[in-house]
Amino acid sequence: MKVNNKSYRAIWVEGSTVCMIEQNLLPFEFKIHRCNSVDETCHAIKTMIVRGAGSIGAAGGYAMLQAIWENKNAGNLYSELEIAKQKIDSTRPTAVNLFYATNRVLEASKVSKEFAISEAYAIADECVEQSKKIGVFGNELIKDGYKIETHCNAGWLALVDYGSALSPIYTAFETGKKNIFVFVDETRPRLQGMRLTAWELQQQGVPHAIIPDNAGAFYMSKGEVDIMITGADRIATNGDTANKIGTLEKAIAAKYYGIPFYIAAPSSTFDLNTKTGNEIIIEERDEEEVLYFYGKNKENKFENIFISNPGSRAKNPAFDVTPAELITGFITEKGIIKPNEEEIKKLLTQ
Ligand code: MRU
Repeated sequence: MKVNNKSYRAIWVEGSTVCMIEQNLLPFEFKIHRCNSVDETCHAIKTMIVRGAGSIGAAGGYAMLQAIWENKNAGNLYSELEIAKQKIDSTRPTAVNLFYATNRVLEASKVSKEFAISEAYAIADECVEQSKKIGVFGNELIKDGYKIETHCNAGWLALVDYGSALSPIYTAFETGKKNIFVFVDETRPRLQGMRLTAWELQQQGVPHAIIPDNAGAFYMSKGEVDIMITGADRIATNGDTANKIGTLEKAIAAKYYGIPFYIAAPSSTFDLNTKTGNEIIIEERDEEEVLYFYGKNKENKFENIFISNPGSRAKNPAFDVTPAELITGFITEKGIIKPNEEEIKKLLTQ
């Protein structure tokens, strides 16, 4: 997508360096972060310099590429990559795209080093292609005049390019020339909605407003939300879906008010090794993210401000699981499917 008239992906490779947009600094500063080793790329994933399921998957693939480059003893490539995979996989536990990517490169290394390298590059490229197609299918659901609610950031920053939940919105707005409006959930505590989604939509000129996380049901109750579209970090075989914390309560409210609730995701986010949502490991992040507020002060300097009751502890689950029965459908790169095992298995064997 374009930033100041220049095309960018959220993550890419230049020579032997993995480059990414520094997402922790947005929307205040637009900076490119460079990783020159597997360790540096792992650090970038862990600290959320790069984030969002698809971009994490691309980062995982590129980190495996760096592991190939770092491997001095070509005879032991597979075992070296197994070690690298363990390190990369331990950065974040919920988004399955990471494991999909590291596994794909590891398996390819059984064929040849060259094939492993081409697979590492292909993961990001496929994510872009799939995201674009998700936009085309999702656009069909968005009518002229629609007001759409979204949670967290499932835009191009999260999917290398275009996005999952935001891709249908971009297609409806740009190609479909539809008059649309987006309610952007702020998404406590990391504020991916208020910071990243709002920034993305502003860059593309899409009309939107940031709403507090607890205002979604209010707008739904007033008949202001026509459709809700979010992304996903992992979709179990039965359709249960892990996404950013707060998604579940939006889905419950949407069901109550009869509002279609769609999840947009590429096939790499579906995980046949996970039978139901109960098996998904939910990342528990530092309580500081809840107790402090990170932003820029009046002197334009980044600051972490303490905003809670001194002495109180906090809990910070990063994701929740929405049961399949609350989901109207999945918007994928192959079309829109129902949230059940049969359709999911068919999607993954097509
Ligand atoms: O913790 P994050 O920011 O990496 O969370 C992932 C997400 O951005 C969301 O859960 C998103 O809706 C799905 S990722 C395309």
